Amino acid sequence: MDIQILTLFPELFGPFLSESIVGIACEKKILNLSLVNFRDYASGKHKVVDDRPFGGGPGMILKPEPVFETIESVLPERDEKSVKMILLTPQGQRYNQETAVRLSKEKHLLMLCGRYEGFDERIRQGFPWEEISIGDFVLSGGEVAAMCLVESIIRLVPGVLGHERSAWEDSFSNDLLEWPQYTRPRNFRGMSVPEILLSGDHARIEKWRREAAEERTRARRPDLRKDKS
Ligand code: ADE
Repeated sequence: MDIQILTLFPELFGPFLSESIVGIACEKKILNLSLVNFRDYASGKHKVVDDRPFGGGPGMILKPEPVFETIESVLPERDEKSVKMILLTPQGQRYNQETAVRLSKEKHLLMLCGRYEGFDERIRQGFPWEEISIGDFVLSGGEVAAMCLVESIIRLVPGVLGHERSAWEDSFSNDLLEWPQYTRPRNFRGMSVPEILLSGDHARIEKWRREAAEERTRARRPDLRKDKS
């Protein structure tokens, strides 16, 4: 999978790209991730990428020229059909596991991280963006949001985790939270592992887990199961 991230702060991604799952995916050459600083495509001595909003108001707005120049350089044929273009913005559709699964099937993603108060609207108009928000809060830029997407997507690409996707992840796609998990020791500070998990009876364990997951979901996130029984 190719992922290109357009950002004014490529340094923010340093250890994120070299460590853990994303690092492994890069090492195995399953992921080819490139960072493009769109300030490099701004014109003039000062490489200005932002300006004041027409009509007044606080804050600065990302100018269209450096973004258009960058995209036209990194996608020379403007081959937008084969590239999934993602604009990270609190105005986008809320991100979830279902979207991660869908995006993990793409061959090429391009993500644009904003900064400042927002994007000049012509950036929105100029490309077939899918606009994505990671939640109803405002970050100072799209970089952390891009990292969320990359990490949640890449672990779904076959060969990255080195084992089957966890049943939990599949069940999250099924709108359930994870059941309670335990490892050794059996007893820890007076808290013990439910007997059933030590029983070796896989059918009963499966049933217990399913019910515990449903119970936890009902208690914590009933909204996930709205349409279910
Ligand atoms: N940029 C700023 N806030 C954001 C959010 N909540 N999601 C995605 N990109 C953002």
